[in-house]
Amino acid sequence: MKIENAKMVRGEITVPPDKSITHRMIFFASLSSGKCEIENPLIADDTMKTIDLVKSTGVNVSFEGNRLNVEVKNVREPTSPIFCGNSGTTTRIGLGFLSRLPIFSVLYGDESLSKRPMDRVTEPLSKLGAIFDGRNYASNLPISVRGGKIGHADYISKVSSAQVKTAFIVAALNGDGISTYREPFESRDHTENFLKSLNAIEKTGNTIKVKPSKIPPFKSTVVGDFSSAAFFVTLGVCHQNARVKIKGVGLNKTRTGFLSVLKKMGAQIDVSNVTQDFEPYGDLTVESSALEGIEISPEEIPLLIDEIPLIGLVGAFAKGKTIVRGAAELRTKESDRINAVVSILSSMGVNIEEYPDGFKIEGDQKLKSCIIDPSGDHRIAMMAAIAGVCADGVEIKNPEIVSISYPSFFEDLKRVIS
Ligand code: S3P
Repeated sequence: MKIENAKMVRGEITVPPDKSITHRMIFFASLSSGKCEIENPLIADDTMKTIDLVKSTGVNVSFEGNRLNVEVKNVREPTSPIFCGNSGTTTRIGLGFLSRLPIFSVLYGDESLSKRPMDRVTEPLSKLGAIFDGRNYASNLPISVRGGKIGHADYISKVSSAQVKTAFIVAALNGDGISTYREPFESRDHTENFLKSLNAIEKTGNTIKVKPSKIPPFKSTVVGDFSSAAFFVTLGVCHQNARVKIKGVGLNKTRTGFLSVLKKMGAQIDVSNVTQDFEPYGDLTVESSALEGIEISPEEIPLLIDEIPLIGLVGAFAKGKTIVRGAAELRTKESDRINAVVSILSSMGVNIEEYPDGFKIEGDQKLKSCIIDPSGDHRIAMMAAIAGVCADGVEIKNPEIVSISYPSFFEDLKRVIS
């Protein structure tokens, strides 16, 4: 796909519903004791994989307009392996979900997902009593699970990962006693937000105490995905002639580290109409901005983990140096995102240095056009498109992979550029 430079960015968009929250609501509804309704779920490749997973264990999932109805009748043992596609969240939270059920199941994924580390979840879930086997001793897919007997455990994770945290909590909720989970820095807390109202967890700093609890039937509405909005926020601040409004965006503080960093860089972003539901949401109005480089600290990383490729792009448009450290986790995402950012920006003529856990950019440079292969990574494809619109255009291979998280990305982009 050819993306041309735009002369002007103007208009309003509503980004798709949040991917992380949609996955969680489907899993929690599939553990509930009755019929649940999820309004405004994200329907994209990744969340469809979570729907497929729960359906294969006997959960009824039906669409009614913009609503998902989820109800468990009888738990069933899947008769064939469950395909998780490209979705790390389906796999990791799914392993926690399957650990609770008295069934045998096998998960497998695409080439990218098969390379991603799964021992980070199979280790804590084994401590809770689930039985795994799989490639590299259950470190990589395919992985088999035999669940049904959850005890309790105290676990200190080496990684700050909301997927691992959620997998542990989901299993521990069905345990035979209180469990605790600790992570180095706080990661996104959608799971805790949902469970707080049930009195199922207690959080002190980065330590979470999980009490065995049942999930009653619930109704919830999914807010707009901040990580999808972040592409348009980047477009607004980097383009020289931009003013764009993004409506209904989730503003959970464990997701919006990117906004705080941009504001420190001098970005013109106005947050309005903030409403507090079980997750806060509001509108973002973003304008062309004069940006200064910044250094990002390791504890900020989990709060903007999916936006770090965009920090690279913003850094290329900012005056001075932008430095990201403590982000080695990025190498374990849908692609090696440190390497992807470095190779895309250097092909565009940006002076960028790669570190094992981040990168350093000398900003305020003119970006030139190039051909980009996003290596099957949806967020890298979208970052490349935004780079092209702000610079001299780009050509993107396999652009259709945006359907993993944001199926209407290119239509929304076309709507605001001219
Ligand atoms: C997610 C958590 C993050 C993020 C991923 C979605 C989630 O991963 O990168 O896109 O829904 O919990 P980690 O928790 O592994 O950092």
